Amino acid sequence: MGKKILFIIVILLAVIIFTFIYFFNSKPTDTTAILVKPEVIAQKKQLEKLTPDSLLIQIDKKHCLAPEYAPQDLVGVLSYGISANSSFRLRKIAMPELVEMVTAAQKEGIELKVISAYRSYADQQRIYSSWVAQLGAKEASRQSAPPGCSQHELGTAVDFNELNDSFANTPTGIWLSKNAWQFGWVISYPLNSENITGYVYEPWHYRYIGKVNAKELEESGLILSKFLDTKNNL
Ligand code: DAL
Ligand code: ZN
Repeated sequence: MGKKILFIIVILLAVIIFTFIYFFNSKPTDTTAILVKPEVIAQKKQLEKLTPDSLLIQIDKKHCLAPEYAPQDLVGVLSYGISANSSFRLRKIAMPELVEMVTAAQKEGIELKVISAYRSYADQQRIYSSWVAQLGAKEASRQSAPPGCSQHELGTAVDFNELNDSFANTPTGIWLSKNAWQFGWVISYPLNSENITGYVYEPWHYRYIGKVNAKELEESGLILSKFLDTKNNL
């Protein structure tokens, strides 16, 4: 009987030792998948902040840029053959699809003109102050972003043709609202969205977010502000 028990103990010990050696020596083929729990991955995603250079950075009244921020890839708009003031600049990344959009519009008899493009912090400060001087702070803040908080400071926002509500009903305004997303450009301040965006309707103000993102936005049915909130985990 004593021998039998000893034999069982030896076998059990052998199994335990073998199991121990096996698990501590074997390397999983995909360590990330095994060691990082899903909730840890989700938390990491939450903590990742988009940089101002990201096409999907949220810029609104609550999310603004540092005064010293300036995009590093600004290029002259006019040099791409687009109707614009010679001093107007945009980020290079936005240009191919802006050119594509302008060319497509032209083929349908629509002339897109860039009437405002990149603005520095100081530019926006000047513009905002002049609105405040004209309308008072409350009304000005419905029309113009405070310095640091304008999408124009990203170098990926454009005002097209004319700053007038009636632009929405012109062939150009209609063309843009129907087609711009297909070129990666989307309206930032749509009709009846002031309660969300903080700004009145601006049928002329479009922001470049890239074709893939613009398609996703179009299919989501969200306005840009809400779409960016989800992309920025806000
Ligand atoms: N007009 C828009 C809100 C801007 O100033 O950027
Ligand atoms: Zn604008």
